[in-house]
Amino acid sequence: MTSVTQIQAPILQEMQRFEEHFKGSMKSNTPLLDKITHYIIKRKGKQMRPMFVFLTAKLFGEVKEPSYTAASLIELLHTATLVHDDVVDDAYRRRGFFSINALWKNKIAVLVGDYLLSRGLLMSVETGSFELLRIVSNAVREMSEGELLQIEKARKLDITEDVYFEIIRRKTASLIAACCEAGAASAGCTKEEQERLRIFGEKVGIAFQIKDDLFDYGSDENIGKPTGIDIKERKMTLPLIYALNNASSAQKRKMVNIVKNHNENPKKVQEVVDFVITSSGLKYAAERMMQYTNEALALLDPLPDSPSKQSLVALVHYTIERKK
Ligand code: IPE
Ligand code: IPE
Ligand code: MG
Ligand code: MG
Repeated sequence: MTSVTQIQAPILQEMQRFEEHFKGSMKSNTPLLDKITHYIIKRKGKQMRPMFVFLTAKLFGEVKEPSYTAASLIELLHTATLVHDDVVDDAYRRRGFFSINALWKNKIAVLVGDYLLSRGLLMSVETGSFELLRIVSNAVREMSEGELLQIEKARKLDITEDVYFEIIRRKTASLIAACCEAGAASAGCTKEEQERLRIFGEKVGIAFQIKDDLFDYGSDENIGKPTGIDIKERKMTLPLIYALNNASSAQKRKMVNIVKNHNENPKKVQEVVDFVITSSGLKYAAERMMQYTNEALALLDPLPDSPSKQSLVALVHYTIERKK
């Protein structure tokens, strides 16, 4: 398996400069905000989105100021959505530590998320990057729509595979698509290349979220966030949807009843998990994830070989092989 160090080799300097840029972008004179953003910066994530920005930029040219703006802006928006997501999902752990809502309560987490979002959007206004602003505002819109569609479907428990893909395309893939589109655009690619990279990012993003949904079926302590919460939140993801579609109607009724009425009972939830596993739900989801990955990689075929292209390919593999 490719290590993160290998992936980062062609963009080491860029990632270092990004860290400073990103840190600076959150600064505030409000003491409470400063304390919380400090906490966030100390517990950084995998930073895959900035890597996508820099590697896609390098496919088409040099990394200059616009690529840094894109990387910081997108990581800010990503951070804002995680802070909000943990409020929405009632999750108390993130990146191996307490989430913002766990430490400071929902009220403050909502406001901090808004602050990060506005700092991000302001950054594009201050630098006059209007194409970037268009790309990311669109992604933010899609993310909110995706989350709301997910909540609506969780209430009714009638989600189909098509709707699942629609949800994850919006809530997760749209931002990774924005990384690749903005990265390529920041290095001055053609409109056609920009659209190709957007679709590439969207496919990678779909595979990325399937992987995240597979994590939820694991019990690995090391992923740094709670597992087994999707069923508790009545979030039906691909493994369960597949299993239900291939179950007898009696079995299906039984499982839906658990998700609907006994989703707080660990023993009952385990029954659903076992049902998903014996129905090959995890296997099927992994296959679909591979399919999206391969479609994404095929889109890179026409581009000339280079160290950054190789790293980008490695980053795609990392997306589905990662352990957290
Ligand atoms: C988590 O994203 C949110 C999803 C879209 C599933 P990441 O797994 O990239 O989170 P961090 O930034 O590395 O913590
Ligand atoms: C992804 O949803 C979060 C966003 C796209 C905002 P999840 O709720 O599945 O993400 P995790 O698992 O909490 O990171
Ligand atoms: Mg969540
Ligand atoms: Mg999840």
